[in-house]
Amino acid sequence: MKIVIIGGTGLIGSQVVNILKDKHEVIAASPNTGVNTLTGEGLEDALKNASVVIDVSNSPSFDDEPVMNFFKTSNQNLLPAEKKAGVQHHIALSVVGTDKLQESGYFRAKQVQENLIKESGVPFTIVHATQFFEFAGGIVATSTSEGKVKLSDAFIQPIASADVAAFIAKIATEQPVNKILEIGGPERFQIDEWIKQYILSTKKSLEVETDVNAPYSGAILQKTTLTPENPVYLGTTEYMTWIAKPENQR
Ligand SMILES: NC(=O)c1ccc[n+]([C@@H]2O[C@H](COP(=O)([O-])OP(=O)(O)OC[C@H]3O[C@@H](n4cnc5c(N)ncnc54)[C@H](OP(=O)(O)O)[C@@H]3O)[C@@H](O)[C@H]2O)c1
Repeated sequence: MKIVIIGGTGLIGSQVVNILKDKHEVIAASPNTGVNTLTGEGLEDALKNASVVIDVSNSPSFDDEPVMNFFKTSNQNLLPAEKKAGVQHHIALSVVGTDKLQESGYFRAKQVQENLIKESGVPFTIVHATQFFEFAGGIVATSTSEGKVKLSDAFIQPIASADVAAFIAKIATEQPVNKILEIGGPERFQIDEWIKQYILSTKKSLEVETDVNAPYSGAILQKTTLTPENPVYLGTTEYMTWIAKPENQR
């Protein structure tokens, strides 16, 4: 079976490529390999005879305007091209709580992506994952002001990117469900407490200040905004085991 992985060179995409490449014809499609969903470059060729498309691409910029342009334009190019090519299953990775995080420009763009998929006429599965373990550093970077990391005490149920990739690779060989499937990690933390564990592992001397109104990606969180309601799969990798490995301490 031919499977095209848009964003196949990224954190999730490269792991999905590795899992599927022995049993399937896998194309890792990204600007680095000559396929650009924003401009349409290389898209028609990549999609020829493809049965499944997995979209795990991400915008190079998370600022409101470029991120909206990325997910809107990319999907407006990709989905009609898939329809024309006869693709039978479009799989896209999005985020648990996207519909509740619409104060955030990033999540407004992810919602537009999801709406375009649902309207496209291409059979689909949208996977809503929780935050990746690898994203802790990104949360610190966007939550630091005046030398302090300001975070809410809402819950988070992070997942190892390897567990996300394994789930996506599994559903690539299954039928589309035409709805959202939620996945998450095995444990629930408060965001402030989770990030303290991450900071300890990096040996940086950063102070975490808990503030229930501290925004996450520009949106105020309720206690369970970021946790899955009805997960169909929970990753098995526990955070403290994962972060204890030297290769994960970045
Ligand atoms: N971070 C989290 O905690 C989290 C949680 C849940 C869901 N997600 C979702 O997971 C998805 C994947 O995230 P990730 O961290 O694996 O991404 P990533 O490592 O940043 O990789 C992004 C990929 O997108 C590709 N890309 C960029 N511009 C493109 C374009 N114009 N056309 C085609 N491909 C393009 C990149 O290709 P090049 O290498 O060629 O630049 C790269 O392969 C995202 O959609 C995100 O919303 C993230």
